[in-house]
Amino acid sequence: MDNMSKEIRVEDLSLEERVQLLVGASWRLRRIHGTAGETRPVRGLPMVAMADGPSGIRIEPNPIRRWPATAFPVPTMLASTWNPELVEAVGRAMGEEARDYGIGVFLAPGINIHRHPLCGRNFEYFSEDPLLAGKIASAYVKGVQSVGVAATPKHFAANEQETNRTTVDTIVDERTLREIYLKPFEIVVKEAKPWAIMSSYNKLNGKYASQNEWLLTKVLREEWGFDGIVMSDWGAGDNPIEQVKAGNDLIMPGSDEIVSRLIDAVKRGELSEDYVNRSAARVLEFIKRTLAYKGYKPTNSPNLKEHAKLAYEAAAEGVILLKNNDALPLNANARIALFGTGQVETNRGGLGSGHTHPRYFINILDGLRSRGLRIDEELSSIYVNYVKENRGEDYLCALYYEEAYSEPLPQDIISEEQVRKYAERNDAAIVVISRNSGEGWDRRAVKGDYYLTDSERRLIEIVSRQFHALGKKVTVLLNIPAPIEVASWRDLVDAILLVWLPGQEAGRVIADALIGVVNPSGKLPVTFPKDWGDVPTSKSPECYPGIPKENPGAVRYCEGIYVGYRYYDKYSVEPAYEFGYGLSYTRFEYRGLSVVKDGELIKVSFDVVNVGKHPGKEVAQVYVKAPQGKLDKPVQELKAFKKTRLLNPGELEHVELTINVRDLASFDESRGMWIIDDGEYEVRVGASSRDIRLTGKFTVSGVIEFKP
Ligand code: BGC
Repeated sequence: MDNMSKEIRVEDLSLEERVQLLVGASWRLRRIHGTAGETRPVRGLPMVAMADGPSGIRIEPNPIRRWPATAFPVPTMLASTWNPELVEAVGRAMGEEARDYGIGVFLAPGINIHRHPLCGRNFEYFSEDPLLAGKIASAYVKGVQSVGVAATPKHFAANEQETNRTTVDTIVDERTLREIYLKPFEIVVKEAKPWAIMSSYNKLNGKYASQNEWLLTKVLREEWGFDGIVMSDWGAGDNPIEQVKAGNDLIMPGSDEIVSRLIDAVKRGELSEDYVNRSAARVLEFIKRTLAYKGYKPTNSPNLKEHAKLAYEAAAEGVILLKNNDALPLNANARIALFGTGQVETNRGGLGSGHTHPRYFINILDGLRSRGLRIDEELSSIYVNYVKENRGEDYLCALYYEEAYSEPLPQDIISEEQVRKYAERNDAAIVVISRNSGEGWDRRAVKGDYYLTDSERRLIEIVSRQFHALGKKVTVLLNIPAPIEVASWRDLVDAILLVWLPGQEAGRVIADALIGVVNPSGKLPVTFPKDWGDVPTSKSPECYPGIPKENPGAVRYCEGIYVGYRYYDKYSVEPAYEFGYGLSYTRFEYRGLSVVKDGELIKVSFDVVNVGKHPGKEVAQVYVKAPQGKLDKPVQELKAFKKTRLLNPGELEHVELTINVRDLASFDESRGMWIIDDGEYEVRVGASSRDIRLTGKFTVSGVIEFKP
């Protein structure tokens, strides 16, 4: 950049130039294959390229220069690590790849809430809990931005379904909005200072989010102090003039028509120039922060080797052991019968704008082979051939290196007699169940999606019958983007390992978790309900996917603040696996809780001890149960957590956590105030939301209130 453009100030620009700053350069001009958009080159300013995430940088291989980027585990799996330091390192690696490929803005992370298990983009989002989502998102954003690349938490806000995603009107009360759906954004804005936020497609209580001044200006800027730019989702809203007025600074992907429309609106007096100047100043400042502006020359050679290690590590910490009846870890010499097409057509990441193009991918079968495990090759070759015949090489190539989707193949291709043969000559069975989902469509509560297909169930039944008859164990691997139904079949098997969509290192991580080289230390960032009918959003079609009679284009967030475990706890509905749950190959004890209130701070400390036989990490969780005051309260809410370091058998970690009294507040809509009731609060420390090991108390004397 020459010095001239460095001096550019908004007041030096013509109306046309100022408006150009507010509108993206459209799809046509993308210079880097696979990126989503760019800013316009106004008065010699560089164009700033934007690429999707959130599982890695989405750029496409280019025939002249290759553009592979690391495929990290999906965000739900990153959240399953409960390890902000690790997620920050992942964020930094993604930021480096963006930087090295000349991308100034990373369109990630997605921080919408897992309101129900069927949202097609849940894999892009972290959790059903706003604190966990907010803390993991903050770490992610800090990592990305530490190398000078903008992060863009999205989609702001209340965008929890794909059905009618560009027009749906989310009807949600203000308390629910502030406590659940806005909370992760509030945390990330205050803790990580993102340079950008992406407004969402949907309407919020009747107004498009990208045209909603209350959301984009009052809450985001005036209340939370956001000082970056707001950009629209791609093609969001129906009125660019309203977008600019609301504080949506950059309209993406943009078009010349929008530029003309805004200029005309100013000339006709429909849009005050003040609004244009306000957003133009913000976009200009934003561009000046970017590496492109500072003259950074992209190297096109990020450290993919190091990042692959990190992709492995993040997946390894995000694997969750849901059940283990002495089946795992397997002996490294065990002879293994691997069932299911998912060993070959393993899903790496989710579909849509969040997909990635890695340099390599290791499916489950190859991962187990690469670790020298004794796979029954004859059995696996049946699956390899079956998948090749039914899917074709092109499909597999797309699945591994781009994106591909198909309904599950029939899985019962092996007779029970054949299974008996494999049971006789192997020591253990592993059955892979795979699912995927993506942007633009929601999953369905049907067989083959939320439920097992008949053939998957038959496979599990036959394998379990034959292996159990010989006293051998059966493990199921769940390679899925979000919860499926498990309660009706889990008793048939001995172990269940949830591996989500683990990124490019899938097979190696899974092999290592199976033999105990990796001791699973992930915990659920979402509840696994027993059945779809237990999910609060399933109660009425108004609540999901959104067809209230009086407003068919709407979805009503009927369950209010009772989302995820807040619902299952409140209404005593037993989940299959609760929020925060996850087993280990070792055991942990919790000891010596101390709770001290020191002014505004509650200091919680305790010891976590590894009392089992394997080294392992534990995720200690702190929930708080508030006294019943003026407002209805959840039974408990997550207020702090800590993942321990790797503890050897007998080793102890002293955990110290601090909760701010303000974080106990509920929003009183009738008065527009946050309120902390007085009375006795219970501190509940445990290994999951339903495995509370220690309790303590503190008292708040006198109701505390504060403005948003
Ligand atoms: C998605 C965004 C994405 C954008 C650019 C939209 O359709 O909703 O998440 O960042 O496209 O690809």
